[in-house]
Amino acid sequence: MSKITAAITAVGAYVPEDILTNEMLEEMVETTDEWITSRTGIKERRILKDPTKGTSYLAIRAAEEILRKTGLDPKEIDLIIMATATPDMPVASTGVYVATEIGATNAFSYDLQAACSSFLYGMSTAAAYIESGRYKKVMVIGADKMSSIIDYSDRTTCIIFGDGAGAVLMEPNTEGLGLQDEILRSDAVGRASLNIEAGGSLTPPTEETVAKKLHFVRQDGKTVFKFAVSNMAGVSEQIMKRNNLTNEDVDWLVAHQANKRIIDATANRMNLNDESKVLMNIQRYGNTTSATLPLLLSDYEKNFKKGDNLIFASFGGGFTWGAAYLKWAYNS
Ligand code: UT7
Repeated sequence: MSKITAAITAVGAYVPEDILTNEMLEEMVETTDEWITSRTGIKERRILKDPTKGTSYLAIRAAEEILRKTGLDPKEIDLIIMATATPDMPVASTGVYVATEIGATNAFSYDLQAACSSFLYGMSTAAAYIESGRYKKVMVIGADKMSSIIDYSDRTTCIIFGDGAGAVLMEPNTEGLGLQDEILRSDAVGRASLNIEAGGSLTPPTEETVAKKLHFVRQDGKTVFKFAVSNMAGVSEQIMKRNNLTNEDVDWLVAHQANKRIIDATANRMNLNDESKVLMNIQRYGNTTSATLPLLLSDYEKNFKKGDNLIFASFGGGFTWGAAYLKWAYNS
């Protein structure tokens, strides 16, 4: 019997309509379009403005796109892994709600939180279930309503993040396509450099935590940047070496969209001289945390060919980071 691998067989995505441009941010905080563009590569991001809607709204739309594109009966889905750092609520899994809303009544679901690496870790988990033969149709959704945890008077964070969602369907493959290898890492050295201080069990919400704005994301950008460059580039280079891949063999770099300079540094370490291989949509969406990787897959899906070699790379709060090597399984 041939070995079972876990392949991506469909992709969906959703971003909200409202656009927050650099010019609009110039009116809100002391910044300039020139500074944001040159330091991050971001021009605009999408914001889910409706205060009655949470991350599940984005996730449901991304998942529904997969159902529409494939004609898949949602009852056939075994598992939905909801990768998010901004669940609708701290308790009552967002994934469970999403599964019920899309009609995946035979699936079980849970949330997976690893900041910006949530989706990559989710793909790894899905692949392990599939390779073991335990489940056959696993949906991994990466979605975040980052605008719900951003302080729009803090210029060091509000210029970076945006809202969005992407999803993939993963299924067994016997042609050797799909996930080939991964290197996943974490280190609490970054716990203080990027976090939301209050709202968890360590510092539960109080009037004081609200007054001190401790429920918003804070980051020491310089430190995060330094670790992101060395770690994300490091594992990307390592996974190529381990699989005897040269820069010629790599067709696409699917890297977390946190900062164009971090992505460029990673591509450099991989010797990817051909810029067209480096997927980039940070200029339009900013950093959507768990959604960046599937949003890239959705935007570039038509360019991928069966058998193409994709390297995924991510870095996020915690710190969490990793790289994965995947062979694309279909032509669009
Ligand atoms: O996805 C999760 C992981 N997150 C990341 O990967 C983010 C990693 N970090 C970064 O992307 C970058 O560090 C930032 C984009 C956040 C900041 O860029 P930087 O080049 O590291 O800038 P910096 O923090 O070193 O600040 C340089 C200067 C400072 O002024 P002084 O001290 O040199 O006078 C800042 O106060 O730029 C100032 N500054 C700004 N100026 C205009 C900081 N934010 C802004 C701003 N507009 N929005």
